[in-house]
Amino acid sequence: MFPSRALSLFVISTLASSTLGGRVFTDPSQLTNTNYDFIVVGAGTAGNVIAARLAEARNQRILVIEAGRSNEGYDDYLIKAPFLGPAASPATSFDWNYTTVPQPAINNQLIPYPRGYVLGGSSSTNYMVYTRGAADDYDKFASLVGDSSYSWRRILPYAYKNEKHVPPNDGHDETGDYIPSLHGTNGPLLTSLPGFLTDIDDRVLATTRELRQEFPYNPDYNSGNPIGVSWMHSTIGGALRSSSATAYLWPAVNNRPNIDLLYNSQVTRLIRTGTSGGKPDFRRVEFARNSTARRFTATASKEIILSAGAVGTPQILLLSGIGDSAQLRSVGITPIVNLPEVGRNLVDHPLVPIQWNVNSTDTMDPFLRGGAEFQAGLTEWRTTSQGRLAANGVSNHMSFFRLPNNSPILRANGDPSAGGHAPHFELAFGNGFFTTSQQIPTSGAYFSIINVVVSPSSRGTITLASSDPFAHPIIDPKLLTTDFDLQTMVYSIKAAKRFAAANAWNGYITGQYSDAVNTTTDAGIVDYIRKWATTIKHPFCTARASRNPNEGVLDSTLSVKKAAGIRVVDASAFPLIPAGHPQAMIYIVAERAADVIKAAYRL
Ligand SMILES: Cc1cc2nc3c(=O)[nH]c(=O)nc-3n(C[C@H](O)[C@H](O)[C@H](O)COP(=O)(O)OP(=O)(O)OC[C@H]3O[C@@H](n4cnc5c(N)ncnc54)[C@H](O)[C@@H]3O)c2cc1C
Ligand SMILES: *[C@@H]1O[C@H](CO)[C@@H](O)[C@H](O)[C@H]1NC(C)=O
Ligand SMILES: *[C@@H]1O[C@H](CO)[C@@H](O)[C@H](O)[C@H]1NC(C)=O
Ligand SMILES: *[C@@H]1O[C@H](CO)[C@@H](O)[C@H](O)[C@H]1NC(C)=O
Ligand SMILES: *[C@@H]1O[C@H](CO)[C@@H](O)[C@H](O)[C@H]1NC(C)=O
Repeated sequence: MFPSRALSLFVISTLASSTLGGRVFTDPSQLTNTNYDFIVVGAGTAGNVIAARLAEARNQRILVIEAGRSNEGYDDYLIKAPFLGPAASPATSFDWNYTTVPQPAINNQLIPYPRGYVLGGSSSTNYMVYTRGAADDYDKFASLVGDSSYSWRRILPYAYKNEKHVPPNDGHDETGDYIPSLHGTNGPLLTSLPGFLTDIDDRVLATTRELRQEFPYNPDYNSGNPIGVSWMHSTIGGALRSSSATAYLWPAVNNRPNIDLLYNSQVTRLIRTGTSGGKPDFRRVEFARNSTARRFTATASKEIILSAGAVGTPQILLLSGIGDSAQLRSVGITPIVNLPEVGRNLVDHPLVPIQWNVNSTDTMDPFLRGGAEFQAGLTEWRTTSQGRLAANGVSNHMSFFRLPNNSPILRANGDPSAGGHAPHFELAFGNGFFTTSQQIPTSGAYFSIINVVVSPSSRGTITLASSDPFAHPIIDPKLLTTDFDLQTMVYSIKAAKRFAAANAWNGYITGQYSDAVNTTTDAGIVDYIRKWATTIKHPFCTARASRNPNEGVLDSTLSVKKAAGIRVVDASAFPLIPAGHPQAMIYIVAERAADVIKAAYRL
């Protein structure tokens, strides 16, 4: 009985996948055909947009290769239940488990550097905050890259193409909490306002009225002008995370026969296939299950799109002989294309949390400690799709601010932001002890403000530790190494303290949490920053595009300079770091880039 039943199941599943959709492979040896029109490296945030949009051209054959695991499985609640976002990494099966080298500005600490190792990439493991950034970010992107179609005004249609705003999970009336006309209603990516209201929400809003001058209410930070305090949008639909895997990859693979997916398979390098137009041509991808497994290859007749992210993309380029020639030789790689900026210009947003003790029995702290409340919340999420675990726990509001125009920080350092309406720092408000660096206290109730410098001027690097593609690259974001970044963080923490000192918090906040008792002077704040700063995990620009022929790694079409056959679409391709949480801008830029690629081949 058993074997024939197994056989019939096998036949059914094979038929189902070959008639309705593409094929899904979990080992390189399963690939039957190795010739495709396009090969997308990395089934992450940007990669899945590119793959799904290219697959709309029915006569094109697309292969997507992903190093990491499936976004489904017995433990997938960690990346499905929104509240658990911060538990999805680091040190889980969804994560690459990277660590930085010692960071000099933060007491030489080595900090975890999470990146999604799963279908959907970091969109499957991130905190789901959806902020488009400032109009200035897009306009500066367009001018640095040399393609005005990336400007705010011209790219906005792609924001609508990407997004589908849905009602909040708890069904509360969202009227007036956002501007509906700014949001898409037909795109694949689901976004929504908070699905679980908390007892700090009214106090946050009361503070915007009480301290209107410094902390104004903004009816929707996604208008291109993010300054002020808004209700937060998240990439959540109902009680579930919406990722590029759920929104783009699976709908394409399940419904289109011309897109194949190979996961559990790491790309080890691109292989030169010849010369075209006088440039080395790279149209073959090499990949393997693991460091000891056999290596396989597949070939793209049109091009390879690298979407391996701000760490993975420069790593693959370097492994392929594309980078700083001297540096490549030093790790035993034969240089083919001398592009010194590969892996340089790494820029990231530093984060520092600060907490207060509060007089409340209704914070998320018991949930953060695990235990009975957490288990009950998990059961509630599984059985009714409601409760804290069904919603984003990070914050219900998000806010962005500029330093004052006459700030000595700007006078001394210049202004690294993209323009006069782009913020310098962010405050997010946590209904509990939110941190990514401290130990969560075993008792007490807390209020947190997360401080982020969103226009940093520090620049770091990604370099190869060895020619072994399975060795982790050397990650050095050089967090907070400039005076601007450090002083802006000091300013942000002082602003957070002014926010929490409003009358709106009387009877709620009872005192500063012990870790922050010395934040009463600038010197005390600097000590505090050096102790608790980490990253909000937004690396960018490691293969940046530039219109200037002598600068950057990519040209105006996001193709690798001095080479043929390779384009890059992901956070590494950006010429600047957006002044906000990046996933929205990455989706939007990827939607635009997909049209640029389609146009290049008249698809
Ligand atoms: C913990 C965390 C929280 C975050 N929170 C937020 C948030 O709340 N809001 C927000 O906007 N942004 C957030 N971000 C940032 C945001 O998620 C990322 O900036 C964005 O997802 C990056 O998109 P990407 O396409 O560049 O790369 P990714 O989405 O990371 O995709 C890269 C993909 O390539 C794969 N890959 C890499 N190397 C190889 C290889 N050699 N072979 C094959 N595949 C490879 C990876 O496994 C991955 O799937 C967060 C990030 C993290 C890690
Ligand atoms: C990351 O660490 C976790 C926990 O140790 C492990 O299960 C996982 O396989 C690691 N990820 C990778 C890519 O090795
Ligand atoms: C490496 O991959 C091969 C081929 O898929 C597999 O048989 C082997 O178990 C893998 N080794 C490890 C350490 O995962
Ligand atoms: C705590 O809050 C309760 C009401 O919720 C109030 O009666 C009490 O006075 C508060 N305690 C402090 C120390 O503020
Ligand atoms: C605060 O400063 C005092 C005096 O320098 C020091 O002893 C104490 O450890 C500091 N507390 C914290 C939490 O940093």
